[in-house]
Amino acid sequence: MCGIVGYIGHKQAKPILVEGLKRLEYRGYDSAGVAVVRSGRVEITRAVGRITNLEARLAQTPQEATVGIAHTRWATHGGPSENNAHPHAALAGRIALVHNGIIENYRALATFLERQGVTCSTETDTEVLAHLIGHCYQGNLEQAVRNALHEVQGTYGIAVVCADEPDCIVAARKGSPLIIGVGDGEYVLASDASAIVQHTAQVVYLADGEMAVLTRDRFHTTTLDAVPVTKDVHEIEFSLEEIELSGHEHFMAKEIFEQPQSLANTLRGRLNTREGAIVLGGIAGHARDLARAQRIIFTAQGTAWHAGLVGEYLFEDIAKLPAETEYASEFRYRNPLIDNGAVIIAISQSGETADTLAALREAKMKGALVLGVVNAVGSTIAREADAGVYLHCGPEIGVASTKAFTSQLAVLAMMAIQLGRRRFLSQDEAHQLITALSRVPELVDQVVQQSHEIRTAVETVIDRENWLFLGRGYNYPVALEGALKLKEISYIHAEGMPAAEMKHGPIALISEGMPVVFIATRGRQYDKVLGNIEEVRSRGGKIIAVATEGDQEINRIAEHVFWVPDIPEPLQPLLTVVPLQLLAYHAAVLRGCNVDKPRNLAKSVTVE
Ligand code: AGP
Repeated sequence: MCGIVGYIGHKQAKPILVEGLKRLEYRGYDSAGVAVVRSGRVEITRAVGRITNLEARLAQTPQEATVGIAHTRWATHGGPSENNAHPHAALAGRIALVHNGIIENYRALATFLERQGVTCSTETDTEVLAHLIGHCYQGNLEQAVRNALHEVQGTYGIAVVCADEPDCIVAARKGSPLIIGVGDGEYVLASDASAIVQHTAQVVYLADGEMAVLTRDRFHTTTLDAVPVTKDVHEIEFSLEEIELSGHEHFMAKEIFEQPQSLANTLRGRLNTREGAIVLGGIAGHARDLARAQRIIFTAQGTAWHAGLVGEYLFEDIAKLPAETEYASEFRYRNPLIDNGAVIIAISQSGETADTLAALREAKMKGALVLGVVNAVGSTIAREADAGVYLHCGPEIGVASTKAFTSQLAVLAMMAIQLGRRRFLSQDEAHQLITALSRVPELVDQVVQQSHEIRTAVETVIDRENWLFLGRGYNYPVALEGALKLKEISYIHAEGMPAAEMKHGPIALISEGMPVVFIATRGRQYDKVLGNIEEVRSRGGKIIAVATEGDQEINRIAEHVFWVPDIPEPLQPLLTVVPLQLLAYHAAVLRGCNVDKPRNLAKSVTVE
């Protein structure tokens, strides 16, 4: 997804802008550009492909400039090209703009501009916005941006500079995040804190409908209607070291192997093993509403949706509360039947997924209590939910979600236990689950030690283009997650489904040597899974199994077995997903794929 960086201060802007773009690379992009204001002019440099291509171009340009904006573009309107790359210029190059989001009425605006004699040279909606600001400019950039945005329908996070006002950057947001890093005599503007943390830990989160004007010695924020807004300064929770590779080859590997620590951080201070209680301060004020809920609706996309599916089993099994899981993209348009007994739980690592945010807003508009399970502190979903629980698993840079998923499962398990204790879960039952949950970080540390064996297993099937992932009960969503991991980073086609569903069609796919991954841990449906394994074996499928340590039956019938320690069934997904993360990772590396920046993918899908 696109990234924005802006700088105004006393240092050379270009190196800061480029370094900031590199911190945002993980979001996914196909071109990049920089605009600086110097000697009464706006200088724009753009390049297709990696940021190193932009750097090579910039090296040919003068370096003296202390105000600038920059952008990594993930193409929506108009293909990846230098001409379509941001920043876009207007007013004969006197104004430059970078933009995240989608201007939905850009065609009507372009027609209006053409009537004023202004023509666009690209296919982008962003260029139209740049020209609209240029059209509104009458010597005051802030006012020009304000007037232009009043005509806009859609979403935006923008930064604008002007040659005639060389000592300011104007920013505005509606539906696409913008954060202001507050330095000493300097400000860094960015789409997310990863591009700011090396300069300052003091940040201000712009809210939807707000604008900011940054100069070297101050910034002021207003609404789009020029009403002053006082903003709190927050502290970034993570360190620079947490967003660096720290010796790993890829962020995905780092984040898989740091799950013992990230899970420990998620659980810290929240498990009272002695009393068999859970402490979740973020939703304490809504404990009564939750206890009175008649049903829970999880809403999310992608991996977070898989976490919601596990949550569905957890809430029904432990809290004895009806639960369902909805794709946010469907929920938001389906005019959902939300009565006042429903509590909505929006799950999102980034806290910026457009569909999940829209589903949250739809549910709130219908009067439901909406809780967020989010990783990114201060993100839009976190701020717009009525309350929530942060993952505290640290920034997740790899596009394929790994540690955020296991932390989502840990939070959902804690919420289910806490709610269960207000309903029918006994103290003993809660104590058992909480004690087991407290051991998960050390158990995950055992599981990741199998990385080499998993790689060896993957090597034997690396040429296969179609896989199946099968599981039952709590491990059915894990089968879906394993398939998604493999698909999105190795580009191998994979399908996950309930193991029993295979007989209703997909078994026709089974061919000699086809890899079929079973999550076959001990549990209520273990014998059924054994039967499904035999059905696949008898048709030549190659069995790869995730099994409970010591299970000799699985060891006899599967070609490769990845072991997980025994744990109560509701907590098994926290362990069984880890071998599947490693399996996908090694497959991607063996196939030479770009593990952290898979093709076509973005870390946070902030557009529909
Ligand atoms: C996960 O590996 C994917 N990158 C993707 O499905 C992701 O989980 C989904 O886009 C939701 O993102 P969110 O958790 O930030 O809302």
